Order: sequence, then structure tokens, then C-alpha cells
Amino acid sequence: MSDCNTRIIAPSILAADWSRIREEVEKAERSGADWLHLDVMDGHFVENVSFGPQFVAAVRPCTGITLDVHLMMTRPDKYLDRFIEAGADRITVHVEADHAVSETLARIRAAGLGCGLALNPATPFQEVIPYLDQIDLLLIMTVVPGFGGQAFMEVETMPKVASARDYRVDKGLAYHIEVDGGIDLRTVHIAAANGANVMVAGTSLFRAKDMSEAVRQMRA
Ligand code: DX5
Ligand code: ZN
Repeated sequence: MSDCNTRIIAPSILAADWSRIREEVEKAERSGADWLHLDVMDGHFVENVSFGPQFVAAVRPCTGITLDVHLMMTRPDKYLDRFIEAGADRITVHVEADHAVSETLARIRAAGLGCGLALNPATPFQEVIPYLDQIDLLLIMTVVPGFGGQAFMEVETMPKVASARDYRVDKGLAYHIEVDGGIDLRTVHIAAANGANVMVAGTSLFRAKDMSEAVRQMRA
């Protein structure tokens, strides 16, 4: 796992033009992005439906970069194998979902994938503490999940990012801290200053006039 102090830029495909998905994925790779973030929404855990494992499988041959799959699903355990087979490199599941969290995390690990746990803005940092030694990525949502283009929730989420960073140091753990939602060229610095190193951005990258320039500035 790359050092959790390395800045990682992960455009979210949610904001891409899905009618030209191959070109959009290639554009993201050419822009210098490190990972591609794929937001799976089941219409139950979140108030939206995006795509499933077949879409991930369609994206897989379009790029060699890391596919960072974010399962916003009530039952991630039920569909986990299909996302593994689809070619995900990393899978992140929500602590609030209806599954045996440690069991799901162990299955992701056993498949040799990067293993992440996510928490929503309203979920206290304390909820994920029992799992922090079982993951290599903690995703702290900076919007209420379900839609791109929302406003960054600084007050509700930055203290949790800082707590995650401090806890990692105190306990000698190693996990990326990923933020997702409303990340742009202004908020990326706030998130980084609090300890985040993986920046998920949909609107601010895929809708940028020059995606490569936007990625460069987001990495600066
Ligand atoms: C949850 C999704 C979005 C998306 C990023 O709703 O995970 O946060 O990735 O959306 P933007 O970058 O457009 O706010
Ligand atoms: Zn996401």
C-alpha cells in the first residue's frame, strides 16, 4: 500500500459522461489521476441508483489504474463476490450498512483487494474504531452520500478526519484517509490540512475545462 501521506487523486466516475464512458475513463487516466472512484448506489442505503458490477466490469478493460469501488449499499456482503469478479482493486463498505462488518472486511482482504470502511457525516468517528486495525483505507464522507455536486460539509466532517489521523499515529496503524464529496481546488487543502490523503472528486475534475490541469492543481 502506498504511503498514507502520499496525495492520491481519485476522480469519481459518477460525474463523467456515461454515454462516452471509455473516452472518459481514458481521459481520467491521461489526466494523471492515481485511482478511479466508482460510486455504487443501491437506491436503498442511499436515495439514488447508479450502477452495478456489470458496469465495473465494462470499465475494467478501459484502464490500468486502480479501480476504487465505493459500495453505498445496505447489503454489500451479498454482492461482494460480483464486484471482486468485475475487477475492483479496492472495495470500501459502509459501517452503517446491514452486514457483519469485520466479516465483510476479511473477505475483501482474503481476495487480495484494498479494504476500506466508510462513514457518513452523521456517524461518529467512535463507530469505526473497532475496525481500524482491519482496513487500509478509511473513507470519511464529506457530503450525505447519494449525489454528486453537493456542498462540502466542513464543520461536521473535518474533526473526524483529524481524529482519524491522530488515532493512526497513537496506535501505530496505517490506513489511507479518503474524503469524498464536494472536494474541489479550495476544499482539498482543508481536507489535506486535517489529515486526508486520498481525494475523491467528481464534479470538480470531470467537469473541469482542463482535467489534467485540475488534477495537477489538486495534487499541488
Ligand atoms: C456520494 C458520491 C459523491 C461523488 C463525488 O454521493 O460519492 O460524493 O463521489 O461527488 P462530487 O465530487 O461531485 O461532490
Ligand atoms: Zn464515493
